[in-house]
Amino acid sequence: MARVLSGVQPSGDLHLGNYLGAFRYWVADQHDHDALFCVVDLHAMTLDYDPALLATRTLETAESLLAVGLDPEVCTLFVQSHVPEHPRLTWLLECTATFGELRRMTQFKDKGGEQETVRAALFTYPVLMAADILLYEAERVPVGEDQRQHLELARDVAIRFNHRYGQTFVVPEAAVPKVAARVMDLQEPTRKMSKSVSSPLGTVLVLDPPEEIDRKVRKAVTDTETEVHYDPLSKPGVSNLLELLGAATGGDPAELADRYVNYGQLKADVTEALTELLRPARERFAELHADRGYVESVLAQGAAKARALAGPTLDRAMRGAGLLAPPGGFSA
Ligand code: TYM
Repeated sequence: MARVLSGVQPSGDLHLGNYLGAFRYWVADQHDHDALFCVVDLHAMTLDYDPALLATRTLETAESLLAVGLDPEVCTLFVQSHVPEHPRLTWLLECTATFGELRRMTQFKDKGGEQETVRAALFTYPVLMAADILLYEAERVPVGEDQRQHLELARDVAIRFNHRYGQTFVVPEAAVPKVAARVMDLQEPTRKMSKSVSSPLGTVLVLDPPEEIDRKVRKAVTDTETEVHYDPLSKPGVSNLLELLGAATGGDPAELADRYVNYGQLKADVTEALTELLRPARERFAELHADRGYVESVLAQGAAKARALAGPTLDRAMRGAGLLAPPGGFSA
């Protein structure tokens, strides 16, 4: 079975963009791939964060992933900081990636990369992400559109390392969905839905109750016209709603547009489709949240499995790069 790996930051509440752009593919992939999913807590430290909340958010992110349907019987779910091979491989890859490559990352620029006070780790963030992927010899990485450039970097770094030090890493491929790869903010439909930047009204959360989904969709920004068309450039708000409906019901956004003569009916159907889509996750989350011991045991098991895979890759990479191995190797 092909190996799949992906990750999510525990930097805030998980939203519909995460679900439609990534998680639902993770849930599908786990059945026919050797799949690993990671709560990337080290990545969440690259911007300002509250240390008093990080551990709780990490646990709740894991609970949310189980709630949306990850099954620890068939996939491996773990926390990045529980596997010390990640930061260790990052060093080798920082000695492989270049300053110029990292400076071109659009997410670094978007997150304020030009400011003097920005954390150095925000700059090297994509290298840690490359380590997450390369450690596990992942062939496929299901992500939303915003991660495509980071995936390109991971590929380039793997190819360069292999070329310089001999075959070490599998070169991964990004798997970006056709519909809803970039879910937009409901209040600012030219900007992607995100954990950090938008107004709360623009972001539908995976755990939102039905009345919140209804409120947010009803208030979603559209435009001053009245006709429903799919045209992301000239009608970003309406097109985003059509994409949400298409992703939730399996339809094509442009074809769905033909069914509607006004925005009100479209919004009502989007609300209903999203409510039904997210209902099971909300119910399951409540059960998991009440059983911390279970979730912690899933993560402990996941970390043990992840370490068993990551150790030999790290050892191979360290030796390949010419470092003197300690007795028992680098992963002992
Ligand atoms: P993160 O935590 O921002 O998001 C998790 C996943 O959700 C997708 N996503 C979206 N998809 C569609 N529309 C949106 N508005 C939207 N917002 C987020 C993201 O593309 C992502 O797939 N750097 C990564 C985490 C990471 C990772 C990795 C991913 C760290 N190491 C290794 C894959 C492999 C991130 O910040 O995702």
